[in-house]
Amino acid sequence: MNPILYSLFNHPLFEDIANHLNLEKGHLTCREFPDEEIYLRIHDVMAGREVIVLDSLERPNRKIMPLLFFAKTAKALGAKRVGLCAPYLAYMRQDKRFNPGEGITSEYFADLLSNSFDWLITVDPHLHRIHKLDEIYSIPNDIVHAAGLIATWITQHINAPVLIGPDMESEQWISAVAKNIGAPYLILEKIRHGDQDVEVSKPIIQPYLKHTPVLVDDIISTAKTMLETIKHLKSAQMKPPVCIGVHGLFSRDAYQSLRESGVADVVTCNSVSHASNQIDLAPLLVASIRKFIF
Ligand code: R5P
Repeated sequence: MNPILYSLFNHPLFEDIANHLNLEKGHLTCREFPDEEIYLRIHDVMAGREVIVLDSLERPNRKIMPLLFFAKTAKALGAKRVGLCAPYLAYMRQDKRFNPGEGITSEYFADLLSNSFDWLITVDPHLHRIHKLDEIYSIPNDIVHAAGLIATWITQHINAPVLIGPDMESEQWISAVAKNIGAPYLILEKIRHGDQDVEVSKPIIQPYLKHTPVLVDDIISTAKTMLETIKHLKSAQMKPPVCIGVHGLFSRDAYQSLRESGVADVVTCNSVSHASNQIDLAPLLVASIRKFIF
């Protein structure tokens, strides 16, 4: 039987990916009982089938129970394998016990997914102290990198870019993009004092005053990291920057604050559905899913 694709939370790439790979589009009912427990019913034949779930894991707490129940139900109904294509993978940043008494939630979340799904695809997960997903995930996995698509977008839209990464972790993305387009890049240092309180070092920007600054980060959440960097660029009289995030999570008024900070543009990939999506990940995800099911 044809492999079948589901999206429990209406991922924007559902139709596109199903059509590209000629996958059957699955149907299910997923709702809450009055007491907020989850009711889930799969309306398609599961026996012997390859099942793929496409859902990003931003705001993960409300999503995780339905996803785990879905995978368990599909397997109980005879599915051959149930894979998760989660363009944004949550809980990758608490990868260490920073203070006594904390949990290492990256590991606990990885256990939950590894115990229910058979394979995992994601786009540029936040790998910092963890270098490979295999260190915490026990299922086969594939990481898709957006650097090539970001590089193409920059080439098509920006003259004389200088790429700026706000912290050491960003060097992995920035250097890949910069190499791709032959642009200079700077990596800053960031100290995080709290969820909303970050300090970013001043870039040495004098040689690049005629360039367009392009800030690139994997995640934009509160946008404080970008906003702090933008302050430095403004005080150095740089041109208005373009901000690019692989995953635009945009908590509360983050997007508005960023737009009002004097940027030329805010651009994200469509791992998480948002008005700023300008970079389409579909071709990369299609190629990655193909590796698992054909
Ligand atoms: C963390 O190290 C990430 O790479 C991002 O820099 C961070 O998640 C951005 O967060 P925010 O937008 O809240 O400053």
